[in-house]
Amino acid sequence: MEKKETFYITTPIYYPSDKLHIGHAYCTVATDAIARYKRLCGYDVMFLTGTDEHGQKIEEKAKAAGVTPKEFVDKIVTGEKGVLDLWKLMNISNDRFIRTTDDYHVEAVQKIFRKMYEKGDIYKGAYKGKYCTPCESFWTESQLVDGKCPDCGRPVHDAEEEAYFFRLSKYAKPVQELLETGEFLQPASRVNEMINNFIKPGLEDLCVSRTSFKWGIPVDFDPGHVVYVWVDALFNYCTALGFLNDKYDDYDKYWPASVHIVGKEIVRFHSIIWPAMLMSMEMPLPKRVYGHGWLVIDGGKMSKSRGNVVDPYVLAERFGVDALRFFLLRTFPFGSDGNFSNELLINTINKDLANDLGNLVSRTTAMVEKYFGGTLPQERQADELDNELMDFISNTKSRYRKQMDEFQLHLGLEEVFKLIQRANKYIDETTPWVLAKDEANKARLATVMYNLLEALRVSLTLLTPFIPESCEKAFDQIGADESCKAWENADKYGVLPLDVTVHKGETLFPRVDMEKTLKELEELEHRNKAPEAKPVLPDVTIDEFAKCDMRVCKVLSCEAVKKSEKLLKFQLDDGSGTPRQILSGIHKFYEPEDLVGKTVVAILNLPPRKMMGQMSCGMLLSAVKEIDGKEELHLVMLDDSVPAGSQLC
Ligand code: ME8
Repeated sequence: MEKKETFYITTPIYYPSDKLHIGHAYCTVATDAIARYKRLCGYDVMFLTGTDEHGQKIEEKAKAAGVTPKEFVDKIVTGEKGVLDLWKLMNISNDRFIRTTDDYHVEAVQKIFRKMYEKGDIYKGAYKGKYCTPCESFWTESQLVDGKCPDCGRPVHDAEEEAYFFRLSKYAKPVQELLETGEFLQPASRVNEMINNFIKPGLEDLCVSRTSFKWGIPVDFDPGHVVYVWVDALFNYCTALGFLNDKYDDYDKYWPASVHIVGKEIVRFHSIIWPAMLMSMEMPLPKRVYGHGWLVIDGGKMSKSRGNVVDPYVLAERFGVDALRFFLLRTFPFGSDGNFSNELLINTINKDLANDLGNLVSRTTAMVEKYFGGTLPQERQADELDNELMDFISNTKSRYRKQMDEFQLHLGLEEVFKLIQRANKYIDETTPWVLAKDEANKARLATVMYNLLEALRVSLTLLTPFIPESCEKAFDQIGADESCKAWENADKYGVLPLDVTVHKGETLFPRVDMEKTLKELEELEHRNKAPEAKPVLPDVTIDEFAKCDMRVCKVLSCEAVKKSEKLLKFQLDDGSGTPRQILSGIHKFYEPEDLVGKTVVAILNLPPRKMMGQMSCGMLLSAVKEIDGKEELHLVMLDDSVPAGSQLC
């Protein structure tokens, strides 16, 4: 058998700091459609996706959730309705899934870092920035708020930290030349942006290690440093094939990548930093980086902090996975931003899927059943009226292919829908219900039906990368077997058997009631918002819960801590006979004198810690919620009849 040409395609690896939203699904569905298209054309495809699991943000989120960073990412990646579940739901056909916490990747990144260091492209220097001592964080000038730490609002000072740097500046010229070829980065509009905004002002060496947090791949020859998350993440594209590890053996076969599909905000990493590091490693460069646009809402980026994320689970459950996949790729040009709305989604489903495609399948199969009992007779009688449809049947594939090879997915779909619309018009022109009135028209009627089925066969073959499950069902309805679905046959006429038998089935895409559905979605969104706001916490066992010593305490005294805007110092009767001192950052919400004598709840067995030079032995429990962007806090208080020292269980 002739060896197939390979095609290696990747999505960005997702950052599992929150649940994924429809914007993430957009990128993966698009990549999936391209991968399926290439398989259909006969390529040996490797489609990679995965998760990018290191970094300070995840370390912090895990800490806030009271779990280890690994437990935190495990829940988002492999937990219920996590990343893996979402890709299964969306029918993503990836061949491989990488997690940057996988051992083989970690080891390979350590070898890569060492290699660039030994070559002299990574060197030790000093990272300069603004440092907030209590938060142990470096900030850049532009991140400061009113010149102060953006996290705690306290003053920062100039500081230096030992760090490793990558000689990005050394590669400025070859990277610029690479971009100027016009082949490497697409769409073309992104090339000038990269050259003018980043290369021309001067590429500075890149800080590629951190010592201010731990959750990363350790630099094995200098403990205390972890590898910068982007170096770790970008090399996933090679380690997932087996580069510098024994887990896989596909590097020689698939590298360099045919295309990295990435969102526009990470084009810089993929088209400047990534090729520079590959040049340093003396590895072949990917053939193409394609920067797609964002799904936006009312012109703004979807993000959890803006509270406007759209849950793909809700939409897939409501409209079906294929309808959602189709909408994402049909509606928005892949290289530009697209404004998401539920109205647009419903309109697209109703117009293209229910009216045009769904109707063509159901009308055609219903007529073949009605006029011929489901099986066409062999007789044929052509007519001039058929010519235009015949042209569409023979030529749509090449027009579609031209668009698809340039990743113009919406235009590829447009070509298929021109054929579908032409076929619907052909029904009106040939008026089969009139032909059916006279037995003498039998051969002509059979020809009309056959031509419609052939138009459908070609359309369904070309739609398979986008809506695979629905196409399978529709192929079955029009009586197409495996060979009829082949790419090679998508520009031929006369592929279905002359005496084809159809099987009218369920409606493929039911029409959606706009008004009713918009209302339902609004209610659903509202209902889903509350759980969204909850941090992701892993399950605890009853034994683990019982380890928390939570007790009722009486407030003996309470005063503000000097020089602190936030802290109150409590002396508490915890039932032990010895007063307990606890510090709590709640001054913004309570005046100290109002709390004396109150019955509160504290967790006692936390390790004591020093705050503003004073010991705090435990923590008071409060109820906290963000309402309209403002934090509300209520100390948990009980009825005064509850005795001090009572245990909460
Ligand atoms: O960037 N519309 O991960 P990520 C379209 N870990 N695409 C969107 C989107 C939206 N509203 N929101 C996000 C990272 N995306 C890195 C990648 S690769 C070596 C490391 C896209 O989870 C975004 O543009 O923040 C990006 O391409 C992808 O989702 C992953 O984003």
